[in-house]
Amino acid sequence: MILPGSERLLLGPGPSPVSPRVLSALGVAPRSHLDPDMLALLDDIRSKLVEVFRAPAGALTLAVSGTGTSGMDTVVANLTRPGSRALAIVTGYFGARLADVLARWGAEVTRLDVEWGSAVDPDDVRRALEGARFDLVAIVHGETSTGVRNPVKEVAALARAAGALVIVDAVTSLGAVPLDVAAWKIDACYSCSQKGLGAPSGLSPVVLSPRALERRVASRSFYLDLALLEDYWLRRKYHHTISAPLVYALATALGEVLEEGLEARWARHERVHHALATAISPMDLSFLPRVHERLWSLNAVRVPAAVDDAAVRACLLQHHRIEIGAGLGPLAGKIWRIGLMGSGATTENVARLTHALADALKRS
Ligand SMILES: Cc1ncc(COP(=O)(O)O)c(C=O)c1O
Repeated sequence: MILPGSERLLLGPGPSPVSPRVLSALGVAPRSHLDPDMLALLDDIRSKLVEVFRAPAGALTLAVSGTGTSGMDTVVANLTRPGSRALAIVTGYFGARLADVLARWGAEVTRLDVEWGSAVDPDDVRRALEGARFDLVAIVHGETSTGVRNPVKEVAALARAAGALVIVDAVTSLGAVPLDVAAWKIDACYSCSQKGLGAPSGLSPVVLSPRALERRVASRSFYLDLALLEDYWLRRKYHHTISAPLVYALATALGEVLEEGLEARWARHERVHHALATAISPMDLSFLPRVHERLWSLNAVRVPAAVDDAAVRACLLQHHRIEIGAGLGPLAGKIWRIGLMGSGATTENVARLTHALADALKRS
C-alpha cells in the first residue's frame, strides 16, 4: 500500500492546502472522545468558533462530525418539521442541494431560482416574502459552483423582518470573506473545516442563535440531533466517537485564523483574488460573475472558446502538480473553479498558477 507521496498544490474548490502546523497536529496520537484533554479541546473549538462566526451571546457553537453537508443536514434537521414553509434561494448547485435537503426533512419548499453566475437580487427576495409566509429562508453565502457571493446581510434583514429564521451556508465563505452572524442577525449557519479555515475535511462548524435554539424541533436524526450533540459537547455525555486527529487539526487551524485576525484574513483573500484578476486579464481570461458579485475564495474563470477544459486541467495536474476544479452541471466545460482559500491564498500561488496555466493553454 502506498500513500500519495507527490506534491499537489490544491487550488480547486476545496479542500485547500493545510499549513505545516495543521499537518503536524494530525500526527499526534489520538485520545479518546471523553479524555479530559479532548474535552478541553472541544471547549477551545467552541469558543474559537464564537469568534470566527462572530456569534451572538447565547448562541450554540460546535462542530458536527462530518463534512459541510453534515452541517447542512444538522441545521435543517433541527429546524424543520413536516410542513414547515421554506424559501430556498437557489443561485447554483449548492443552493439546489440546500433546497433538496429542506424537502427531504419535510419542508414545503418554494424555490427562488437565479441564473447561474449571478447573485440574488434582494428586491426579488422582498417580493417573494411579500407573497407568502415562510418559517425559514435558506441561502448559500459563497456559491462554489459559480464563484458568486450572495448579499446575505440584506437577505437576512428581509427574512427576519418577515418573521422567518435565516439559514446560511458559509461552507466557502467562513474564514475567507466577511461574515458576521451576530450583526447580520443570522439564525443558523454552517461551514466546513477544509476551505477558508485550512484543516482537512471531516468536521462541520455550526452556529445557532438563541432565536433558532428556541424554535428547534425534535430531530428525527439521532446522529445529527443538536440536543444530543449539545449533551456531548457541553455536558460530556457520550454520543459518538469524535475523530481526535480532526479535532487537533481544527483547533490548530482555528488558532491560526485568530492569530492572523479575521479582518486581516479577509483582506488577504481579497488581495489574492485581485492579484489573480490582474494576472489573468492579459491572458484573455475573464470571470463568470460580475465584478461586485465575485467570491474571493472561489474564482470562476471562463474557459475560452476552442480550449479543451479537461486537457488544461490534466496538464496542470500532470506537469505542474496543481489541482483546479471543473464546472458543475450547466457550467461543465464552461468554467474553471480556482480556489484561493486558507493557507492557499497567496500571491506566490497566483504566480505559480498563472505561469502553469499559460503553459497549459499553449499546449492545448
Ligand atoms: C457552498 C457549499 N455548500 C455545501 C458543500 C458541501 O460540503 P462537503 O463537500 O464538505 O460536504 C460545499 C462543498 O463544496 C459547498 O461548496
